[in-house]
Amino acid sequence: MATGTTPTDARSVRDVSADGARDKSLAGHIGPDDLARAEVRDGVLFDVRDLQVFFPIHEGFFKSMVARKQEKRYVKAVDHVSFQVKQGEILALVGESGCGKTTTGRTMLRLEEATGGDILYKGLPMRAFSGKALREYRKKAQIIFQDPYNSINPKQTIFDIVAEPLEVNGVTSSEREKEERVVKAVSEAGLRPAQEYLYRYPHELSGGQRQRVCIAGATVLEPDMIVADEPVASLDVSIRNDILKLMVEQKDKLGVTYLFITHDLSLAWVISDRIAVMYLGRIVEIGDTEEVVANPRHPYTKALISVIPVPDPLAKREHVILAGETPNPVDIPSGCRFHPRCPEAIDACREIDPPDVHIGGDHYAACIRLK
Ligand SMILES: Nc1ncnc2c1ncn2[C@@H]1O[C@H](COP(=O)(O)OP(=O)(O)OP(=O)(O)O)[C@@H](O)[C@H]1O
Ligand code: SF4
Ligand SMILES: [Mg+2]
Repeated sequence: MATGTTPTDARSVRDVSADGARDKSLAGHIGPDDLARAEVRDGVLFDVRDLQVFFPIHEGFFKSMVARKQEKRYVKAVDHVSFQVKQGEILALVGESGCGKTTTGRTMLRLEEATGGDILYKGLPMRAFSGKALREYRKKAQIIFQDPYNSINPKQTIFDIVAEPLEVNGVTSSEREKEERVVKAVSEAGLRPAQEYLYRYPHELSGGQRQRVCIAGATVLEPDMIVADEPVASLDVSIRNDILKLMVEQKDKLGVTYLFITHDLSLAWVISDRIAVMYLGRIVEIGDTEEVVANPRHPYTKALISVIPVPDPLAKREHVILAGETPNPVDIPSGCRFHPRCPEAIDACREIDPPDVHIGGDHYAACIRLK
């Protein structure tokens, strides 16, 4: 398989133009009324189908002259990824730095454009959302970032921060309604009584309280899904659990669906209903959390699980240390992209790009040795 070049393989040609730009021919077909009528079917909120997100590499002048006759090169951040997000679940997207977790989440929010494939939201292809439908959709899908301090305006009060999404989206019809929704969101985020926090500034709050403000800012629009991108990575270990508990509580009480992005499989284990393990732009294993953790089948997942700290120091576990660094997503290894680091690789792994193998139930893994 050609790597790091113009995306031309069979699974991607459908909607990628010659220079890798997005084919916009379908844009504008879905309006806000279609979105309002759309319903979740069979519990599936998002259906991500064969998603590709490539970033063109901008070569310097000399290199671009030399490369002009060669194929354009891309960072293949997300490379043929398929999965579903079920309504009301916490799906954890786990993997090493640079494997494409954030790009996947951002593309589901339409903050990045897909190069190929489709994302269906309540059965509707997101790439066909018109401007108005896109604005409506943006109320339905929110994001929480890793660092609460950098993601909120230090000069705004908590009230203004949480009210801003309502104002920007023109959601509330009166000041009273706005205030009620802000108070509700702040309170549901665990800052109680809300009145005590509304007119404070971010610097007067702890890191955990600031992350609660960000969560209130995301939930105030009553979204269907929140992409939580490493939401506790910058917090003290002592307060991480409180924030994780809050997310589970919001899932249960408010029915919020979470895409929980983390490089830490032990966090994913604690919080998620299902886990999707990513390696170099591809999902290599997906399934119910308990099943994946108890019975990992892909060698990469096995390695990640082998280094999770366990409470019993006498429990015998063999740590799998992976050789080498994650390869560059511009030059993805042939065959199975994990083969240069895989402790179980055989010769065929250099040639064959492994398809998903059904392990049982919702559990799938992409490894040729599982057949
Ligand atoms: N806008 C962009 N332009 C070019 N390359 C990008 C862009 N955004 C991401 N990338 C590259 O795409 C790859 C995947 O990045 P991404 O941020 O999605 O990974 P990640 O799994 O979230 O990593 P981390 O755990 O470090 O946040 C990386 O090689 C990254 O450098
Ligand atoms: S296909 Fe081969 S290289 Fe890839 S995970 Fe399986 S054994 Fe390892
Ligand atoms: Mg990231």
